[in-house]
Amino acid sequence: MKVEFVSAPQARLVASLVDQDALPSGLEPVLAEAARASRFAGKPGQLFEGFAQRADRLIRIALAGIGEKNSRARPANLEKAGAGLVGKYLTSGETALAIDFTSSGLNAPEVAAVLLGARLRAWRHDAYRTKLSEEQKPSLARIEAVGVPAGTETAWAGEAGLAAGVEFTRELVTEPANIIYPESFVARCQARYAGTGLEVTVLDEAQMRELGMGALLGVSQGSVRAPAILAIRWNGGAAGTKPTAFVGKGVTFDTGGISLKPGAGMEDMKWDMGGAGAVAGAMLALALRGAKANVIGICGLVENMPDGNAQRPGDVVTSMSGQTIEVINTDAEGRLVLCDVLTWVQKVHAPSAIVDLATLTGAMMIALGQEHAGLFANDDKLADGLLAAGLASGDKLWRMPLAPEYDKLIDSPIADIKNVGPRYGGSITAAQFIQRFIDKGIPWAHLDIAGMVWADKPGATWDKGATGYGVRLLDRFVRDTLEG
Ligand code: BES
Ligand code: MN
Ligand code: ZN
Repeated sequence: MKVEFVSAPQARLVASLVDQDALPSGLEPVLAEAARASRFAGKPGQLFEGFAQRADRLIRIALAGIGEKNSRARPANLEKAGAGLVGKYLTSGETALAIDFTSSGLNAPEVAAVLLGARLRAWRHDAYRTKLSEEQKPSLARIEAVGVPAGTETAWAGEAGLAAGVEFTRELVTEPANIIYPESFVARCQARYAGTGLEVTVLDEAQMRELGMGALLGVSQGSVRAPAILAIRWNGGAAGTKPTAFVGKGVTFDTGGISLKPGAGMEDMKWDMGGAGAVAGAMLALALRGAKANVIGICGLVENMPDGNAQRPGDVVTSMSGQTIEVINTDAEGRLVLCDVLTWVQKVHAPSAIVDLATLTGAMMIALGQEHAGLFANDDKLADGLLAAGLASGDKLWRMPLAPEYDKLIDSPIADIKNVGPRYGGSITAAQFIQRFIDKGIPWAHLDIAGMVWADKPGATWDKGATGYGVRLLDRFVRDTLEG
């Protein structure tokens, strides 16, 4: 979706934003009456459409409600209005949508929020649909922003970078596992990052073996695909400031391994790399908007498959940290990948704080559904910063507990630790497992995003499918706590 700033619209479709109970005064009486008759009151998410004769042209008029001016949800409501318009007209046959901000009273960041919602809602992945009819294909390709206040283009430049990050994450998450596997994930990132200033380094299997990453390699050994660790560096901050690390679980397909998952719904496990996808997209967003912060993004990339060489339940592996792990269930593989990646990032990059993102447990979806990701943290300040970023960005988080009583549950009779605990509290024992690999004194947060990566129905700014969850959260966290 192209966004243009124009003084006079070319589009035949012209939208205006309407505050609650405040129809535009210049509206043709017949339109105003029609809007009232259909109970359009400018509530958030409400849309109305009509036609009007204006200066010899028949214009398709859309009104989008943005609710109360001083609502706490104002930014979200503005996004929702932009997204709602695009959702309605994406395949309508209209090729351009003008949004007239002239008498909207919105400031530059508010206009940018409308445009962000519009662009995010327009994203689709049609690469493999070769038989779409003309009516099914997106027609809308251009948004004309009319009458915007000073500063809007600058505000939009930042939000456009953010949108590109969200779109990249959705792309990685949507691609099936025969297309995106560890090596192709890396290649897709390298191609997308060209010219952005992001620095990429890759660890291959031989290097991981050299480093003693027995936990990660144990997961990977049943797959013919080689694993990879992708490190993405953004140095936008003061030289010498320690980076903040974002670490993502990138299981490009999770069959469960020898502890094989049931067949029904297993295709969903193509998005078991959603944490790594969020990190890859967030890094792109930070670079494109020129974030003034030092950040390193690490993606731990493996495929979890059952073959003759796959690891077995009961196997004991030695992690890079030196801790030995009894693999009770080969389907609890995410934590085995993360533990070695986390040891590596602490050793090599000495981060000031770590946030990991992972589609780690089905239990997280049982607990929180698809509205909040679970947040586990050893540091209240880090937790509060993330919670606030979640509220501000719409990528919401809910804090979950860590405690020694839970930690005990993953002691192993044969090794230092086992990779699953009892049935109850499965998301918490998973977090406790990861915590055993965090060095003393390092602020760390673990986000279990299993419920957030994929949506079965359209949401405010996404269609069904990949949501891009996490990109806006991490971007907002960087803006508010690192760039402050
Ligand atoms: N990737 C899954 C978790 C998952 C399940 C994410 C469904 C999204 C939707 C993870 O690797 C897994 O299989 N976890 C197991 C852990 C169990 C064996 C302790 C689970 O949640 O069942
Ligand atoms: Mn699994
Ligand atoms: Zn998994």
